[in-house]
Formats: sequence, C-alpha cells, structure tokens
Amino acid sequence: MEVCDELRSFEATGVYRLNGTCTSAGATYLDPVRLLNASYQRFRIVPSAYYSRSFGPQHQEGEPEIERPEKRRKRKRNQKPKPRELNPMERIAEARHQEAKPLLLNAHESLVKAKHLLEYISKTIKGNEHTLDAGSGSENNFVELGTSWRAPFYEITICFRNPHVLGNEEGFFHAQKTSFPLFNSLISVEGTDEAEGEFRNRRYILPRGSCFLMADFKRVRDLIPCSPNQGYNLIVVDPPWENGCVRQKEVYPTLPNKNFLYLPVQQLAHPTGALLVLWITNREKLRAFVEKKLLPSWGVEDSTVFYWLKVKPDGSLIGDLDLFHHRPYECLLLGYINVNANAKKGSNFKLLERSQVIMSVPGAHSRKPPLEKYIPGPKPSRCIELFARELFPRWTSWGNEPLHFQDTMYFSEK
Ligand SMILES: C[S@@+](CC[C@H](N)C(=O)[O-])C[C@H]1O[C@@H](n2cnc3c(N)ncnc32)[C@H](O)[C@@H]1O
Repeated sequence: MEVCDELRSFEATGVYRLNGTCTSAGATYLDPVRLLNASYQRFRIVPSAYYSRSFGPQHQEGEPEIERPEKRRKRKRNQKPKPRELNPMERIAEARHQEAKPLLLNAHESLVKAKHLLEYISKTIKGNEHTLDAGSGSENNFVELGTSWRAPFYEITICFRNPHVLGNEEGFFHAQKTSFPLFNSLISVEGTDEAEGEFRNRRYILPRGSCFLMADFKRVRDLIPCSPNQGYNLIVVDPPWENGCVRQKEVYPTLPNKNFLYLPVQQLAHPTGALLVLWITNREKLRAFVEKKLLPSWGVEDSTVFYWLKVKPDGSLIGDLDLFHHRPYECLLLGYINVNANAKKGSNFKLLERSQVIMSVPGAHSRKPPLEKYIPGPKPSRCIELFARELFPRWTSWGNEPLHFQDTMYFSEK
C-alpha cells in the first residue's frame, strides 16, 4: 500500500498496521480518539480531553511529558541509587520482561521508522478545541453516589432522538424523554441516533446501541443473560486490581483478587464461543494468580499475551523500558471460552497464535484503548466490558461508573 493510502485508511479506521522486521510479531498503532469517534454521529471526542496526561498543566510546549516517576524520588545530589537484589518473584518478572523486550523494541522501531505516521499523529493530537458545556458543578462521583442510601432513588433522564416517520421531513427528529433508575437497572440506548442523559446538572452522551448497568460487584449476577443465546462473543475485563499506584492516587476503589474468581464469566460467554480479554498489571504475583487460578476457574483456554506499549505524541516511549516498577507497557491476556478446535483453526481466532503489540498515546489514568476493531473473533460480535468507565455501540458496559467518560466535558459537537 502507498503511504497516502495507508494514512487514508488510518484516518478512516484509527488502526495502522506496522510491519516489523521480526516476523513473529505483529505491531499496530491505534488512535483511540479516531476509533471512538466512529461511535458518534453528532459528537466528537475532544483530543485534549482524552489525552489529558499529554496536555496537563505541567506540560511544556515541545516536551510532551506524561509520567516521570523517577523525578518524584528525592535523591541527594551525586548519590547513586543502590542496586538492590531482586527477590525470586521479581527475578521471574525480570525474565518475562527480557523475553518481551525484543518484541517491544521491534514494534517501537517500526513506529519510529514510520515518519509519515508520526508527523500525522503529532499534527492531529492538538489540544485547543472547546468541549461542550458540561453543566454546572464538578463531575458526578458515581462510585460515591452508588454507595449512598439515596442510590435507589436517583434517576437519569434520557432524551432519545428518532427520525420523524411521517411525511418527507428528512433530517427532522423527534425527542422523547424518559427517566430510569440510575443504579442497578440495565439501560439500553435504542434508536438511530445517540441519546443524551441528564443527572444532577451534568449531561452524558450515550452512543446508539449501547447498554449499561451501573452496579456494584455484589450485584454482578444481574448481568447473566436469561437465555444462553444472549451471551457474549467478546468479554473484556479490566479489574480494579489492588495496586499501590491506584491506592495512592485514589482514582477508584480496588477489590481483592479472590473476588474476581466469582465473576460469572462462563455464564456470560456465548455458547458458540467467546474471546476473553483480561487486562493485568506487571506484578508477577498477580500474573501467577491469573494464570494458575483465575483463567482456569473461568474456563479460559490457550491464553496468549498481547502488549500495550504507551508512547508520547512524538512517538517516543512514555518512560524507560527497563524501569522495573514503571514499565511503559501493560499486558493483556487473551484466551478462548467454549471455542472448539475447528473454530480456532477456521476463523480469524487463529490470529491469537502470535503475540501482538498495540501502541497508542495513553488517555486518563488507567483508561484503555478501545479494542473491538483490532481484536480477532467473530464479527459482528456481542461484546461486554466488565468494570467499564465508558460506553460503545453494541456493547454492554458494567461497573460502578460506566458513565464516567460519557460526561459532555469529553465531547464537542461535530
Ligand atoms: C481499571 S478501572 C477500569 C478502567 C476502564 N476499563 C477504562 O478503560 O477506563 C476499574 C474500574 O472498576 C471499578 N470498580 C471498583 N470496585 C468496584 C466494585 N465493587 N463494583 C464495580 N466496579 C468497581 C472502578 O471504580 C473502576 O471504574
């Protein structure tokens, strides 16, 4: 493909396949804003609101600073850090890192070589657009509101827009407002256009065909479909793992590992097969728990690891690849549930045979790039995200704050 065609295709899809020199690896650059924009007709994601870490107040022109954990450490002048012996778990983690490193370096090198793509990225990630009027007051804290005694009484008023069916009034819509209990009720956005929700003076943009259940883990079984045929082909899980960084920043509450053994993943999977995608941290203890206990208890087979390598808008890595506790990448484990051997060979599920590297500029803390376009498996698929903070068309989003990134502060009008 010609360079122009590649960029045109990237502009349309938000996915750019890079050809590394190492044949066992696949590397792709994703533009989450472009991918998300495909979900909306009347709205667009504001890049500066999405890439808030690249446009923070400390950010200086020409220095796209994202995370510099090493800066935070106070160290006396001229004092070198003392090398510390790694404990046995850390040694296993280091060996895993050394194994992944050539793949990651190769993927990154192919991005650095794609000069036309980098120029394009830095031109399009600009931060001077205005967001919609988000309403008065600060953002709603759904996690807190959901635990209040008032939670059962909170209602969201949703304005659905549908085209006029009578006459030739093309381009005209009629709006219909309906109120729903906000917590513990499954809300579907049906219709041909996105809907707008209103709750406590804030507005939320709801993509058409999306569905959400704002509820605590204790009620996760409410998600189990009445009939197995309403199960899901793609299940993405991004658990609130216990982790020092999240605790310190108080971004969201976390849950002990044992709780995740009770997620009804098997009951959510479609009987004809599902692909499970699980985001994990780089802690070896967690990786061991996931591989030895969690995935077998969910019935997940043949898991493969993919990597999400985080880059700055100029294409450089957000941090040193070898920094032990702050790797500039995260891992996602992918595996099959109920997929028989024939289906694995016959469908594009077989892409799972090799590790892949996804690269993108990260958004807000812990916000993951959207994966549906990139992930193998049957299409169109029925998809669900567990512990979601945003909505997508044709997806069910569950968690204690699935409307978080739907606030109008992240959007502008098209
Ligand atoms: C790692 S974050 C998910 C990030 C999300 N995938 C994204 O890309 O923005 C984990 C989410 O789980 C939610 N969570 C924590 N405890 C929960 C609970 N008891 N029940 C439901 N959700 C919970 C957190 O509030 C947070 O939104």
